[in-house]
Amino acid sequence: MSNHEEEEKEMEKVYFIEKQEITVKDFECEDGWILDIGGGGEGIIGQIKGDQVIAIDFRKEELEETDNKALKITMDARNMQFLDNSFETVTAFFTLMYIAHTKEDINKTMDEIARVTKPGGKFFLWDIVFDYPEGIEKQVIASYLKVNLPNGNSISTGYGAKIHRQKMSWFISLAEERGFTVKQKEIHDLVYFIEFIKN
Ligand SMILES: C[S@@+](CC[C@H](N)C(=O)[O-])C[C@H]1O[C@@H](n2cnc3c(N)ncnc32)[C@H](O)[C@@H]1O
Repeated sequence: MSNHEEEEKEMEKVYFIEKQEITVKDFECEDGWILDIGGGGEGIIGQIKGDQVIAIDFRKEELEETDNKALKITMDARNMQFLDNSFETVTAFFTLMYIAHTKEDINKTMDEIARVTKPGGKFFLWDIVFDYPEGIEKQVIASYLKVNLPNGNSISTGYGAKIHRQKMSWFISLAEERGFTVKQKEIHDLVYFIEFIKN
């Protein structure tokens, strides 16, 4: 099989939701480190907040390809190496969509986010609603995404994960169960932003 044919066969396994666009505003946070979960790839949070960011990702290659000033550490979000209450600010930009494929993984990750966030600290989440018709035989769910940055630049990218359904309300419940309260939320088509405060 040629490379092109192989690529086409792989693409047949993907369920594409319609292209999305998100405008990321610069967000206010305390001085000090911002922990970005799954901060490899485009490293959007590191592009906005630069050397204030500690980006963790369990795939070293993802961090190596990231071009920003964040401090990059290979670490699994399900088992973070930080002490309790280490961060005033934690972010996850299109990362929970990836981890949420299994309930065990998302529960462990949310436990860890709650553990390392200081009381009164903030958790900023940007993510996407995943849904698809019954009975389809696809292995991956994906979306092309245009990200508009606060400096006026735009990035065209695509994010995908093993196929599963997810809604914004589910992430809100997971966070609320762990002592977070929603301070603000915005939804545009299928993509959304939520600011949580840790009680
Ligand atoms: C769709 S990408 C996120 C995009 C990224 N935040 C950005 O700004 O471009 C999901 C990332 O989460 C990482 N990831 C998935 N599960 C993880 C885990 N358990 N711990 C740490 N990183 C994880 C993946 O390696 C991948 O780089």
